[in-house]
Amino acid sequence: MDDADTAGALHRALLERFGETVEVPEGLDGLDELLRMATHATHRAWTDRAVEPGLVRLLAACALGAPSKSYLQQADIVDVREPGLRAEVEALVPSMPWIADAPALLVVCGNGRRFRRLFERRGQPFTNEHLDGFFNPAVDAALVLMNLIRAAEAAGLACCPISVLRDRAARLAELLRMPAHVFPIAGLCIGWPVGHRDVNARLPLSATLHVDRFDEDRDGRRDDAAIDAFDARYVAAQASRRPPGAAPATAWSDERARQYATAQREDWGDFVRAQGFDTR
Ligand SMILES: Cc1cc2nc3c(=O)[nH]c(=O)nc-3n(C[C@H](O)[C@H](O)[C@H](O)COP(=O)(O)O)c2cc1C
Repeated sequence: MDDADTAGALHRALLERFGETVEVPEGLDGLDELLRMATHATHRAWTDRAVEPGLVRLLAACALGAPSKSYLQQADIVDVREPGLRAEVEALVPSMPWIADAPALLVVCGNGRRFRRLFERRGQPFTNEHLDGFFNPAVDAALVLMNLIRAAEAAGLACCPISVLRDRAARLAELLRMPAHVFPIAGLCIGWPVGHRDVNARLPLSATLHVDRFDEDRDGRRDDAAIDAFDARYVAAQASRRPPGAAPATAWSDERARQYATAQREDWGDFVRAQGFDTR
């Protein structure tokens, strides 16, 4: 595609994603990368083609170059390869068979241990034992996760993050021998995609992109209106993708409220504290 075609495709992809026009300035560099980001879609089916360890290493190297809070480098990746171990990790989430199907499975971790060791090795007291000491590695790890997805998608691979692994965080930590102050933020399935996935819509930028300050009214009615409009667009998109005779599409709000009608991962705080973090 030449630049004009790529700019057109980017414009259309963003219109589909947000339901509103986003201008693409003329003569802008990096259109291919922007288009790849704009058309991102999570996949849950892969071909049988292997994702070789060397390729995983390349993706991990690109991902671990993510920015790092105070240059503390508090994120690690575990490439789960040994078949017996993989089977044990997969068995933690039997409800998601795409984990077992994925040619590669990584677990992205926040690592607050390295920071503490700097002090231990110097015989200095660690003076940052509070919630920020947990939050910073979590943010670093999230950036590495995002970078892994971007690197994989740039190489033509497809991904599915797996936070449901955290439902069994203590067992996962045991299986992967995570030391104190190390915690999983998500797994990541990587493989060569089967077919094309349509993009999932996002809330309009009028709701999520703020200029200078939140213009949300105190009771949230502006956001409510954006969500109602989004729900209508979501239902229409789902309906257009369903085969004739399928059950009617439901709204994004209804699906999310149903998904979270029962509490999830109530023991996460206990796990984080058991790993040694003080979350005050
Ligand atoms: C941190 C994180 C955890 C996720 N965990 C899961 C998961 O456990 N299982 C799953 O199938 N998808 C998981 N997803 C994928 C989301 O469901 C997906 O990103 C969302 O539906 C939006 O779709 P899209 O990425 O195609 O736009 C996760 C995504 C993120 C960012």
